[in-house]
Amino acid sequence: MSSRHEATGQPTSRSASPIYSRIAGTGSYLPPKRWSNEDLVAWLADRGVQTSHEWIVERTGIEARHFADPDVTASELGLQAAIRAIEAANCSAADIDLIICATSTPDMVFPSTACLVQKKLGVHGCPAFDVQAVCSGFVYAMTVADAMIRAGSVKRALVIGSEVFSRILDFKDRTTCVLFGDGAGAVVLQASDEPGIVASRLHADGQYADILCTPGTVKGGEILGDPTLKMDGQAVFKLAVNVLDQVAHEVLDEAGRTPDSIDWLVPHQANIRIMQGTARKLRLPNSRVVTTVDQHGNTSAASIPLALDHAVRSGLIQRGQSLLLEGVGGGFTWGAVLVDY
Ligand code: UT7
Repeated sequence: MSSRHEATGQPTSRSASPIYSRIAGTGSYLPPKRWSNEDLVAWLADRGVQTSHEWIVERTGIEARHFADPDVTASELGLQAAIRAIEAANCSAADIDLIICATSTPDMVFPSTACLVQKKLGVHGCPAFDVQAVCSGFVYAMTVADAMIRAGSVKRALVIGSEVFSRILDFKDRTTCVLFGDGAGAVVLQASDEPGIVASRLHADGQYADILCTPGTVKGGEILGDPTLKMDGQAVFKLAVNVLDQVAHEVLDEAGRTPDSIDWLVPHQANIRIMQGTARKLRLPNSRVVTTVDQHGNTSAASIPLALDHAVRSGLIQRGQSLLLEGVGGGFTWGAVLVDY
């Protein structure tokens, strides 16, 4: 066992026996306003943009998404998901000693969305920061939190993925605006003598920065460049299918396991064809792929924790099962986390 600080219960140094991190609780939140494909198609048609429910479903599997009201920010969605995860973990906000928020749609340039969630939770003093790895953000954030827990400096981490992608969509560009939605998910990761997170692997390749980006920035008090999302969908699609398969095998190899040991694939929810293609390569039936893209659309860094929480709360995912979380997105970034839940 590791030595613990008497007052705080926090580990005081690296322990002789390993510390692992386990998922103690999950939570999620969707803004109430649901937009079916039919709603969005009609709204876009009024603005001269032609698309159809049939195209969206056939190419992506998306049937609906949620959009936040204009005054609702990523920290607000993240807060709601965090409250639910903390409750599910049977602890209180005061027990949290690290907050990481994965987001590409922060409330402001700074401070971080994690600091704003911390303020809204009414807690003080623990480290809080954002991770920016777009749709891979949640697996990046989980991996960082896991490393800090295993190093012994943190006992209980709140890991959030929260996005209001509706803010950065160009609703005149039908190739992107039908794909994304808003939402948040969160987990409480807790130090444990048993795994937990058994393996994780992260990657990036900045040479592909241009195929998925929001190139605008702030300069001299003005927005410089285009602040809306741009994507070469086919280039992203091809890269995604390959890297997701590679990174799945990397974490399985690291853990000494085979694909058939995975009870649930919990992939980034961008496109049902990519998700099922990844499962096919791993020889997993589609029935073992947690799927929420149909109802949520692509919520970027929020999609994995949203899918995870929905599967936990609906009873699909059970304690003791093995989960493979996989993310891929702008950067280009990708990664996977293998979890014994
Ligand atoms: O979250 C980060 C990761 N992101 C992803 O993983 C997204 C990866 N990419 C994709 O999911 C797919 O590439 C898309 C869903 C974005 C597009 O599907 P696609 O099968 O690659 O379609 P496409 O881009 O090849 O377009 C096919 C046709 C085009 O028309 P033409 O040139 O064949 O006449 C498009 O103009 O579909 C047209 N099209 C649309 N038609 C109706 C594109 N968007 C729409 C639309 N409605 N919304």
